[in-house]
Amino acid sequence: MPQAMEGKTLAEKIKAEVKREVDRIKQELGEVPRLIGILVGENKSSEIYLRTKERTAQSLGIISKILRLPESISQEELIARLQSLNDSPEIDGILVQLPLPSKFQTNQVIEAISPEKDVDGFHPLNLGRLLMNEIGLRPCTPAGIIELLKFYGVTIEGQEVVIIGRSLIVGKPLAAMFINENATVTICHSRTKDLSKVASRADILVAAMGRPAYIQSDFVKEGAIVVDVGINYVSDAALIEKIFGDDPKRRQDWQEKGYTIVGDVHPQAREKSSLFTPVPGGVGPLTVAMLMRNTLLAFKRRRHLS
Ligand code: GUN
Repeated sequence: MPQAMEGKTLAEKIKAEVKREVDRIKQELGEVPRLIGILVGENKSSEIYLRTKERTAQSLGIISKILRLPESISQEELIARLQSLNDSPEIDGILVQLPLPSKFQTNQVIEAISPEKDVDGFHPLNLGRLLMNEIGLRPCTPAGIIELLKFYGVTIEGQEVVIIGRSLIVGKPLAAMFINENATVTICHSRTKDLSKVASRADILVAAMGRPAYIQSDFVKEGAIVVDVGINYVSDAALIEKIFGDDPKRRQDWQEKGYTIVGDVHPQAREKSSLFTPVPGGVGPLTVAMLMRNTLLAFKRRRHLS
């Protein structure tokens, strides 16, 4: 029987550790970390993600707020806002929720964030440090995946890892992290030939391309470890039924909310795995927990506490 890797459980543990440390710092220094999340324009899922990050931070004693900027703001104005946050001694962590509206040059915006405050770990200096295997702020989702595998006692060294998806947020930094852990890594993407054949070589298969239930049984080697990074909001009742059959939980979800969250891995495909991450409740909660850890780390490093 495949076993679920409950990201939620590990996320709670990480958040409890961050909270303890924030409490201790508050007592000793009378200060707490401060995080700001920036939302440009209107995007329903970005709004939900950012509110979750804000609420979680506040529950751990981190001061957190969301800066909402209109889509009409220019690239230059946005960069100027970031520069003033970089210069502000009041702020320890800055994140710009992605994706930005299409008129923005995302890379230039990311590069405008001070690397010391870049709690998403997307700045070129932090990505470079990751490649160099130096200490630094690491992208949250991939860092959470590595933590989760270790938490479940998975051996990474020497394993064949296949990552489907080459994004800056997950695929590319995750590949570097697996290399740093001495795995053999293949990254696949939309131009990869015979994807299911390459995927089925994997001891550890990571699906991070954002297509609901795309990974079918023939992509998965018997006994493989399957990590599903997909968070797809599906509201099409016929598609939900096609994927989940008459699963009452999914039907209820759809009836109550008008959608259900579907991973990139088809539920039948995970049956071939030995360990898998559920969606929801797998990788998602870890991203937020790792962001909290990065915020604490940014605070401490700026004050030379670690
Ligand atoms: N959009 C999807 N994932 C992320 C993330 O980890 N950070 C930011 N800033 N935006 C995202």
